[in-house]
Amino acid sequence: MAQSDRKANRDREKAQASEAKEEAQTTARSGKLAAAEDDEFLYVGIDLGTSRSSIAASNGIRSVIPSVVGWPKDSIARKLLKTSVLVGKDAEENRLCLDMIHPLEHGVLRGSGDDSDEGKAALERSLAAAREILMHLVKEVKPLSGQTIYGVIGAPAQASVKNKKALIKVAEGILDAVIVVSEPFSVAYGMDRLQDTLVVDIGAGTTDLCRMYGAFPTDEDQLTLTAGGDTIDELLYQSLVERKTQAQFNLNMVRKAKEQFGFVDEAQKEIKVAFPVDGIPQEIDITEEMRAACSSIVPEILESIQLMLRSFDPEFQHRIRQNVLLAGGGSQLEGLEDVIERGLTRLGGGKVTRVDEPVFAGAGGALKLAHDLPADTWKPL
Ligand SMILES: Nc1ncnc2c1ncn2[C@@H]1O[C@H](COP(=O)(O)OP(=O)(O)OP(=O)(O)O)[C@@H](O)[C@H]1O
Ligand SMILES: [Mg+2]
Repeated sequence: MAQSDRKANRDREKAQASEAKEEAQTTARSGKLAAAEDDEFLYVGIDLGTSRSSIAASNGIRSVIPSVVGWPKDSIARKLLKTSVLVGKDAEENRLCLDMIHPLEHGVLRGSGDDSDEGKAALERSLAAAREILMHLVKEVKPLSGQTIYGVIGAPAQASVKNKKALIKVAEGILDAVIVVSEPFSVAYGMDRLQDTLVVDIGAGTTDLCRMYGAFPTDEDQLTLTAGGDTIDELLYQSLVERKTQAQFNLNMVRKAKEQFGFVDEAQKEIKVAFPVDGIPQEIDITEEMRAACSSIVPEILESIQLMLRSFDPEFQHRIRQNVLLAGGGSQLEGLEDVIERGLTRLGGGKVTRVDEPVFAGAGGALKLAHDLPADTWKPL
């Protein structure tokens, strides 16, 4: 993308954010549950993801953090850090002296479905970590003291089915009322694409597909693939290791390179990264490895789109195929819309678009849902 385009994009995003803020504040005032007092209620939409979690609140504040929590490894670490727990970026920056945990893994709470003692202990820990993340996010949007907080949590599709009760419990004492929905659903809701749409949410741990046809999607309308951002990173890392260069790198550096240069289709220019060789940064060309790793998720996504189409009412299949909506961090891979749309031509054709704001689409949609839900839908905590 040219620099001028990027600037225009940034300006547009700023304008959209300020419009969203105004809209959120107006809607907050007219919200069904908001009574006479403006400050009595705060609505929040939360996207609880494997790699990052975000929040959007009716007071216009938004925030995004890495989904990671760290507890000091020992008494020295506790003394040094002067805290018993760190969340998000702070945890990442001090990870050497912390026990780190990402509460979500492969689309569910880590440890869930494992009845062994180890599994139970892991689940306890991930619940505690999810709670820390939720508390941190809510603090970020600065609720006023005494404000009643209504929250919609969008979680990976599988977690919203398998861990729904646990996630509701996690929110106890942090939110006053909560609803847990699947993240692709909140994305579609936020984009007003509730009908005839197939959402493909490409996250870190999983890619979730969800069919929308005007009602709450059921389990059959959702499909979860293990291919996602993490599988790209691992493949890219592995293929660079196999090249046996002298360069030193780790998975984190490879992920950053993907987020900056990731593409499928034709490369616009050579992709070069600076990795250290004997302590001195040296440029290496990783264009082909990048193309192969990023493209690796495409066949499985196409197969799953076909599966979702094939198992849908034949009379309406043509409508859904014209509305494939890519979401999630992974949807930012350059050229992905075109490649999937081209792949669809072999399957009867279709149209593919991408959400405007991959980072906040889930949280924004959850916030919109929070405003629109009738009072009797809420579960008080
Ligand atoms: N610019 C980018 N280009 C390509 N991939 C990106 C980009 N930015 C982020 N990603 C990737 O997107 C993934 C994270 O996406 P997202 O934040 O939607 O996931 P998540 O919601 O935390 O995960 P999940 O939905 O699996 O729970 C990571 O693999 C990350 O590396
Ligand atoms: Mg996600």
